[in-house]
Amino acid sequence: MSQSDFIKEIAKYGLENDQDKLFIALNELIDHSKKTNKINFALQLQSLLKDTIRHQASSSTLVKVGSPAHYLKEEDREINEFIIEKLTSEYKFDNLVCDKEVLDELKFFVNEHRSIEVLRHYELPVSNKILFYGPSGCGKTLAAYVMAGELEKLMFVVNLGAIVSSKLGETSKNLAKIFKRASAENCIIFIDEFDSLGKVRDYSQDHGEMKRVVNTILQLFDYLPQETIVIAATNHAGMIDDALLRRFDSRVSFDLPNKDQIKEIIDKTLNNETFKLDNPRALNGIVESCLGMSYYEIQKTLISTIKRSLFDQGDKISRLIPKIHTKVWKELIQRTQAEKKG
Ligand SMILES: Nc1ncnc2c1ncn2[C@@H]1O[C@H](COP(=O)(O)OP(=O)(O)OP(=O)(O)O)[C@@H](O)[C@H]1O
Ligand SMILES: [Mg+2]
Repeated sequence: MSQSDFIKEIAKYGLENDQDKLFIALNELIDHSKKTNKINFALQLQSLLKDTIRHQASSSTLVKVGSPAHYLKEEDREINEFIIEKLTSEYKFDNLVCDKEVLDELKFFVNEHRSIEVLRHYELPVSNKILFYGPSGCGKTLAAYVMAGELEKLMFVVNLGAIVSSKLGETSKNLAKIFKRASAENCIIFIDEFDSLGKVRDYSQDHGEMKRVVNTILQLFDYLPQETIVIAATNHAGMIDDALLRRFDSRVSFDLPNKDQIKEIIDKTLNNETFKLDNPRALNGIVESCLGMSYYEIQKTLISTIKRSLFDQGDKISRLIPKIHTKVWKELIQRTQAEKKG
């Protein structure tokens, strides 16, 4: 496409009041101008676009100029379809078991937002995009809740899988709407299953949709207001487009627990000695046998054992500290490990 084609497109979407398409077309013109060495022009357009997005983000509503009221309601409904939850969280760093490096990284990120005014004063960039990756059940979702709890921000949990698979061809538009809404409400966007983007490749015939979606996300990331945080989580970092991976200010790996961490998750689950093992000496062997399991799996076997032990006690609530049957627990762990291998 030539420059005049882009301008025609921009004029069309402008006149039609279709801001989402207008933004996409403008971004395409910016890319085109960069490629054709009109760097100054590209930068001017870019800053114009950025200012507009910032301005919209700081105004409290998302009213589109000239939109009839029923249109807004329709849009609300559409957006809500893709947001699983809007939540506030009580979780704090103390709830999360992880490596010291991971904790430091998360705390650093949180501090950037607590000290955002200082960073702005010195014109330092603020990190606002963070990727959590690693195997299932190792705390990625929990860590997102912790960030929301520590920062006392509202969090949108976005169902990327649903957006990608719902109406092919509308993924970019839907994502743009969600980002706009989140910026306006100054909240955290948590995109779980971030690798679902890779699935577009399977659905689409020509990979064109995939490219468009990735480009949209790159642009949404680039124009994200500093105080709007994006947390993305995936089990498959390898499936994510490289350009997209590079956009994250920080990438944090959540791994299976080592022995110390297994002990810590057990302690937390025993809830400060609300429960005690009937055979404390079995603990080291149990920790060893949990290697290879996720935090979630370990916690699940222990909670199940606690319940079974309580049921054995009958209906009475004892004043004594309930004793947990280590033998039952060992069996549950063995079963889980066998299922994983099988
Ligand atoms: N690192 C951890 N510290 C403390 N609890 C954890 C940790 N990881 C998992 N858990 C426990 O397991 C539950 C499930 O973990 P979570 O949903 O955070 O896993 P995930 O990494 O997001 O997994 P998935 O990739 O399947 O989404 C948590 O709510 C928590 O109870
Ligand atoms: Mg998760």
